[in-house]
Amino acid sequence: MKVIIIGLGYVGLPIAISFAKKYDTYGFDINETKIQKYKEGIDLTEEVGSDELNNTHLHFTSNSEDIKKADVIIITVPTPIDKNNKPNLSDLKNATNMVAMNLKKGSIIIYESTVYPGTTEEVCVPIIEKVSGYIYNKDFFVGYSPERINPGDKKHKFENIKKIVSGSNYEVTEKIADLYQKCLVRKPVKVSSIKVAEAAKIIENSQRDINIAFINEISKIFHIMNIDTYEVLEAASTKWNFLNFKPGLVGGHCIGVDPYYLAYKARKMNFNPKVILSGRKMNDSMGYYIAENIKEKILAHDLSLENSNVLIKGLTFKENVNDIRNSKVMDIIKYLKKENINVYLEDKHVNNFELKKMYNYSLSNNIPKVDVVVFAVKHKEYYNMNIEDLNNLYDNKYKIVFDIHGIFNKNELLERGFEVWRL
Ligand SMILES: NC(=O)c1ccc[n+]([C@@H]2O[C@H](COP(=O)([O-])OP(=O)(O)OC[C@H]3O[C@@H](n4cnc5c(N)ncnc54)[C@H](O)[C@@H]3O)[C@@H](O)[C@H]2O)c1
Repeated sequence: MKVIIIGLGYVGLPIAISFAKKYDTYGFDINETKIQKYKEGIDLTEEVGSDELNNTHLHFTSNSEDIKKADVIIITVPTPIDKNNKPNLSDLKNATNMVAMNLKKGSIIIYESTVYPGTTEEVCVPIIEKVSGYIYNKDFFVGYSPERINPGDKKHKFENIKKIVSGSNYEVTEKIADLYQKCLVRKPVKVSSIKVAEAAKIIENSQRDINIAFINEISKIFHIMNIDTYEVLEAASTKWNFLNFKPGLVGGHCIGVDPYYLAYKARKMNFNPKVILSGRKMNDSMGYYIAENIKEKILAHDLSLENSNVLIKGLTFKENVNDIRNSKVMDIIKYLKKENINVYLEDKHVNNFELKKMYNYSLSNNIPKVDVVVFAVKHKEYYNMNIEDLNNLYDNKYKIVFDIHGIFNKNELLERGFEVWRL
């Protein structure tokens, strides 16, 4: 049995490494530089580590001819949105096209990329049929198995997450379940159709988005009421069925994107989703909301915007990862810079070259004494920062801390003379 994984990013690489432990596996990416780095043992995703890369039996390749050898093809390419928040399926279509051109009769193509319900059979299958000339469910088969990994999360990994599997018919579903079962600790969950599997994934992330949006909204309300949201959440969580969500910035390429996929498909079916999109709107507003509050705090202290220094700690879309794509911290930076506030950037996870390329910002080398420190991402190292080190970042009588995620003990900071703002 030969397997090929198409797209070796945050999702594809861990899957490919796991499959290579059980099957003769190829890992394909169109990005040759990436393939070269992996071959050298450099893990750009920080998801598997160099030991795994150096010891894997996985064949890294950029040669699409290798697809011809595969009995199973697993597609894990990006499914982003465009500037109008509409699904951009170009990578998915290109990958499908390439697979179809090199397809061996009888193979199974399994999609793991997040899509709206219906994409696999309505968009991908017709491409495969047209390009290969093969007949669906006779000459080739498909499946969908959504990926649930959470970058930076060392507990929930590909191998120990419960995986949903689906296939283009009963036998294929069984085959796919057996295929994954060998690599997984837990039995895959078989569902009756590809659409159900696609829909399950999209609502997992949409549900999270809406729940966070609700907490973000109450955080805004409680700010007006002068009530500390974290304290309220702590108190409310003592009820057995209170859901544990925190306010925050929702960026990245999953939670902030997937609801738009669902909304797009709903609209195509003449249903206008209200809750899903209002959740998106609320979460997308949070960067600017935080930035406005920073500006107001500066002005409240009679500091001039041009002469005030703000240090942003944490630039990634979430904690403990190096990924800055669609990071909402950039909304804060953009707003502050537009107001002529001096902004300094720090994040040891971030590659300066990537930051420059993607946003035209740079990490700061010489950080002067500042007026405001913003902890925008809850990287684990910030939890270990002692208050003396924090204190040394300031030299004036105002020590304003924007502890967005409540990393610090608020009372301790207040006792030490800091002014604390948190969501
Ligand atoms: N990152 C996550 O947390 C996560 C979790 C669950 C699901 N997903 C979904 O998984 C999919 C992949 O996400 P990711 O974060 O791994 O993306 P990624 O950008 O990290 O990796 C995708 C890889 O695919 C490659 N690629 C693009 N087009 C290609 C093509 N035509 N042929 C071959 N390779 C191609 C890119 O070079 C890249 O290396 C997306 O649909 C995403 O929504 C992501």
